[in-house]
Amino acid sequence: MLKRPRRNRKSAAIRDLVQQTIVTTDDFIFPLFLLEGKNLKVEVESMPGIFRLSLDQMLLEIEQCLKLGIKAFDVFPVVDDKHKDKEATQSHNPDFFYLKALETIKATFPEACIMTDVAMDPYSSDGHDGLVDEDGNILNDETLEILGAMALAQAETGIDIIGPSDMMDGRVEYIRDVLDDNGYEDVSIMSYTAKYASAFYGPFRDALDSAPKSGDKKSYQMNPANQREAIIEADLDEEEGADFLMVKPALAYLDVIKLLNDNYDLPITAYNVSGEYAMLKAAGLKGWLDYDQAMRETLLSIKRAGADIILTYHAKEFALLNK
Ligand code: PBG
Repeated sequence: MLKRPRRNRKSAAIRDLVQQTIVTTDDFIFPLFLLEGKNLKVEVESMPGIFRLSLDQMLLEIEQCLKLGIKAFDVFPVVDDKHKDKEATQSHNPDFFYLKALETIKATFPEACIMTDVAMDPYSSDGHDGLVDEDGNILNDETLEILGAMALAQAETGIDIIGPSDMMDGRVEYIRDVLDDNGYEDVSIMSYTAKYASAFYGPFRDALDSAPKSGDKKSYQMNPANQREAIIEADLDEEEGADFLMVKPALAYLDVIKLLNDNYDLPITAYNVSGEYAMLKAAGLKGWLDYDQAMRETLLSIKRAGADIILTYHAKEFALLNK
């Protein structure tokens, strides 16, 4: 035999030499769940190892993660029902605990990259990403105004990246204009470009208690059966001024990650979502999978498919494993 591919696998040293894909903590954005109050650390039942944290606890967590080489964080608010209404009013109230906390986080760790989520669902009594009319329709253009106010309020806290996850049409341009008109031209937009209507968001909605009160998200999130729509969305996001394109979820959509990586020059992010974390965790806890190996393989596959950046709940565990 002239060709023996096994020669390039014969020792760890050679395997390391020929390894194509490398995942490091430089690639990660770590999602965090913020609780109102003090000294609170409440585990998410469907995401063992992931906690909702009050600000004091979150500062400790970020400090630890920075030491481990994780430099970017996406902070989501857990909003009590009493603060929710149809218009998501608290999302742009500068005195609301979430926006106050972002200011403190950014002031405490100016070197960290802090990302926020723009969508109405955590603050909405309807549990939808947009405004809901009497017939249950999700109103697009009326929602943009609220998203713009939310993005501006978040930018005012000093955060680095705005992440519109709402899937309303035209929101990237709308938000870009609002930010620029107010002097925030350096705040980036990481658009949830190809966000599918997925069953894998369940544990996240448990964490935030943000599930839709009625209906589903299929009139704004994408149909899992479709690939071409990802191109339509990516073209729009690029034209509208997005700095990063995101595919979400990651694992069941590796083809979409590759499609965007092959066709666009903007950095590609993949969101390794809550349900994907929960699956590995559950199997690991049952002893059905080697969790650490499965986690490494999973993250590698997302990077190999073409993601430059991975939003992942595994970030800290991965960093601890590679310390
Ligand atoms: C809010 C939002 C969701 C996620 C991120 N931002 C939930 C949803 O759209 O229903 C999901 C993240 C995850 O599952 O880890 N729009």
